[in-house]
Amino acid sequence: MKILAGNWKMNTTFEEGYTLIEALKTELSPERLGEVVVVLAPPVVQLTQAIDLLIDYPEMAVAAQNGHASDSGAFTGEVSMAQLADAGADAVIIGHSERRQYSGETDRDVNLKTKSALAHELRPIVCVGEDLSVRKAGTHLAVVEAQLRAALDGIDGDLAENVVIAYEPVWAIGTGETATAAQAQEMHAHLRGVLRETYGELANHMPILYGGSCKPSNAAELFAQPDVNGGLIGGASLVAADFVALADLLQKA
Ligand code: 13P
Repeated sequence: MKILAGNWKMNTTFEEGYTLIEALKTELSPERLGEVVVVLAPPVVQLTQAIDLLIDYPEMAVAAQNGHASDSGAFTGEVSMAQLADAGADAVIIGHSERRQYSGETDRDVNLKTKSALAHELRPIVCVGEDLSVRKAGTHLAVVEAQLRAALDGIDGDLAENVVIAYEPVWAIGTGETATAAQAQEMHAHLRGVLRETYGELANHMPILYGGSCKPSNAAELFAQPDVNGGLIGGASLVAADFVALADLLQKA
């Protein structure tokens, strides 16, 4: 399975979200997408708008950008995985580096959220990635491996088949600086090896997405890597023409 996911982050008004989804619906026919599955992650306040607009478009799924691990309770301002599933979401992004950085999310939080998402039949898109200091120190493979192992701790193969991994080097997010195709492939192959240790053959079918300044001008080479199964796109997911171009490139890869 190839996945093109758009993480809109804290962008778009209701109307902008509507216009973007309508444009994608017009362009991205099932024939054009082929085996590419599109996932859109609008701000949570627009989640039901996206779900309603895409009700007849099963090839385009809707994800939240975060969810709480508890089903309900006194957690002001939070939205649970149970509530996201109840609203009709298909997936949820978990452990994005911006949440780790600005909201103090830990590997343990990521693990609990992933378990909760799976319990509510939401497909978790689990984000891992190193910051620039780690990359410069040369310990990126070990650091990201530890994030992955922690995120999936205690999750067996029956559930893991629904997990999507996203490798997003922090130094490449929103910076215009992309990992080279070789850097992405090196990390993706390493993560695939870690998944294989735990899940065996299933690891070959678990999508590993690349994210970080991925755009039409650099995506072809990234998507061509054997262990890159798609993209988690920030900025370029807000521009319909760019996102459509990325879908085309992934379809052809
Ligand atoms: P950019 O594509 O804007 O670098 O963002 C990547 C990202 O963080 C997607 O989750």
